[in-house]
Amino acid sequence: MEIRNLISITDFSVEEIDKMIGVAGDIMKNPDKYIDICKGKKLATLFFEPSTRTRLSFEAAMLELGGSVLGFSEASSSSASKGESVSDTIRTVGCYADIIAMRHPKEGAPIVASRRTTVPIINGGDGGHHHPTQTLTDLLTITREKGRLNNLTVGLCGDLKFGRTVHSLIEAMLRYENVRFVLIAPPELRVPQYIIDMLEKAGAAYKQVETMEAVMPELDILYMTRVQRERFFNEEDYIRLKDTYILNMDKLASAKKDMAILHPLPRVNEISVEVDDDPRAAYFRQALCGKYIRMALILNLLNIVKEVK
Ligand code: NCD
Repeated sequence: MEIRNLISITDFSVEEIDKMIGVAGDIMKNPDKYIDICKGKKLATLFFEPSTRTRLSFEAAMLELGGSVLGFSEASSSSASKGESVSDTIRTVGCYADIIAMRHPKEGAPIVASRRTTVPIINGGDGGHHHPTQTLTDLLTITREKGRLNNLTVGLCGDLKFGRTVHSLIEAMLRYENVRFVLIAPPELRVPQYIIDMLEKAGAAYKQVETMEAVMPELDILYMTRVQRERFFNEEDYIRLKDTYILNMDKLASAKKDMAILHPLPRVNEISVEVDDDPRAAYFRQALCGKYIRMALILNLLNIVKEVK
């Protein structure tokens, strides 16, 4: 049987993603149906970079499907600290697990890994490049908050240069009808040129702006992001840019009443805590969606359930 990996969001078609969203919805409604479905299966989580939501939601996902988990949460507790290559680590773990979710600071590490094993590899974030399981989470969240993935104006705000969740989300949403992108970033943190090329090639409607106030009334979704300190070359630039955008209730006054505020989390200062009680604040609901969509993804990659019949 063909081994599927999830390295970039375009590894799955829009139809496949829609089916996965359907499966996640069915799991939410009928969790008992899925309680033992992965009995005897093992998920390895190999995290060479810090994580809370991605790793723990993967582990919770596999446990709720009746499977087991193994792995490490930092490179220092694995043989990477002794100088072992990613290739050798993956080749080894592929002997112990049925599916592997990994996060690595180097762009492209998951694709290298996928060539070294016959078990499915899931990219849980590679450097400033891609984060496709966050995107699946975001698509499920948008579906639940807005009821659709087309006809939307999506504002993405903050570190659009290093923010891998933004890159994967734009790539995904480009494939839906009539999605407009409003890219809100200081000049130093604008999306990389390859994303602009992608938007142009797809003929997508987009604009780049520096402040959120003027565009706020247009947005159906506001996707806030953290300035990615760990990817900066110097601390002074980080300190200068880190508080460029802080979403608070004053700024939200001009937003649509049904705008959804998303954030992949962790948040630092970019959303003030007063916003958490606003019904538009969807970021903790989004974190919960992350577990259900990862359950659906595991079922898909293990060829157990691919759609709700
Ligand atoms: C994001 C990531 O790791 O890229 N977090 C996550 O997986 N939810 C966003 C971030 O770290 O800022």
